[in-house]
Amino acid sequence: MDKVRIGIVGSKFAADFHCDSYSRNEKAEVVAVGAIDNLEAISRKWNIPDTYEDYRQMLDRDDIQLISVCVPNFLHHEVVLEAARRGKHILCEKPLATNIQDGEAMIAACEKAGVKLFYAEDWCFAPALRRVISIVDEGAVGDVVYVKAKETHCGTHSPFAKNAKTCGGGCLIHLAIHPIGWILHFLSGGGKNKVVEVIGKVNGGGADNYVHKDNTGEDWAVGILKFADGQHAFVEGNYVTVGGMDDKVEIYGKEGLVKADLTMGSSLDVYSRPGYAYALEKTDNTLGWTRPAVDEFYNLGYVHELAYAVDCVLKNEPPMYGLSGAAGLACLQIVDAMYRSSREGKTIQGEW
Ligand SMILES: NC(=O)c1ccc[n+]([C@@H]2O[C@H](COP(=O)([O-])OP(=O)(O)OC[C@H]3O[C@@H](n4cnc5c(N)ncnc54)[C@H](O)[C@@H]3O)[C@@H](O)[C@H]2O)c1
Repeated sequence: MDKVRIGIVGSKFAADFHCDSYSRNEKAEVVAVGAIDNLEAISRKWNIPDTYEDYRQMLDRDDIQLISVCVPNFLHHEVVLEAARRGKHILCEKPLATNIQDGEAMIAACEKAGVKLFYAEDWCFAPALRRVISIVDEGAVGDVVYVKAKETHCGTHSPFAKNAKTCGGGCLIHLAIHPIGWILHFLSGGGKNKVVEVIGKVNGGGADNYVHKDNTGEDWAVGILKFADGQHAFVEGNYVTVGGMDDKVEIYGKEGLVKADLTMGSSLDVYSRPGYAYALEKTDNTLGWTRPAVDEFYNLGYVHELAYAVDCVLKNEPPMYGLSGAAGLACLQIVDAMYRSSREGKTIQGEW
């Protein structure tokens, strides 16, 4: 096999950047998409030959090896179980599931079926963050003691993510899971250096939210993680940040520090009176001075992330820790402990 044939479940925001990334990879071919709406538009945009209103019919095809799961969080569990049962390898968008039990069942189902489960944490492949790791690995900042990371913007576009039931929570599980996943990838040494203490603080959802009173999940979340080897991390996710998606990482070592900006650090400065089509994810407008992303999907890591999964399928290799079901599950466990910490007003201890 020199090419992986792919079916995508879902047809909107995430499905679009999966299509974009696969289209840049000569070893990947998207042959079908299954979803409840937007099928005509996505198949036309990306030249996808077959569409299915019932994604299960797509899963029944023998010529598809890899399934991209790009549906709302609460459906990850169902789609992964259906795909594993039919012997497909699976790349599942974040968060792995809306709760720990579903995440465990998904991992068990993939193990039983002998298929690979990739947890789609794109930050593991963001070029800037890969460079950060290579600089740190060289010893440039000495021993790392503290990491600070966030994903914030002005609010989700997806109706499913506004609802705590279909999302699994609010911006903590939906946005802060990126910094959590990346910090595990960076600090855990392949899952060995566990998170042993967690503090979380979120606002309450609904009327308790700062801005998004119609969201039943929280619109502001922060947390602190402590690792067994002693490092601390501060993570943040919120929907109260206007001006475009703001993804940043800071790493503090005993002899230096590194700061990375995944979204705002464009090499372009544009001044426009009439505005133009698009600058950056979750910006309101393109008037006046703006800094449009040069290649947003590339910068966020999707292109390399999906290429990595395709290579693992072709070489029959398991994913590294950061992109594994185990890492996705650890993220869920940490998020769950952060919600508990916020509810109970105390530090939660464990081993994740
Ligand atoms: N890695 C990232 O940076 C990133 C960014 C955005 C979204 N995501 C993840 O991708 C997933 C999808 O998010 P989105 O923003 O594309 O959502 P969206 O609301 O834009 O799209 C939801 C999609 O799910 C499909 N769908 C809904 N119910 C379905 C069903 N029963 N059967 C088949 N398809 C169904 C819809 O047709 C639609 O295509 C979420 O899990 C989200 O967390 C990840």
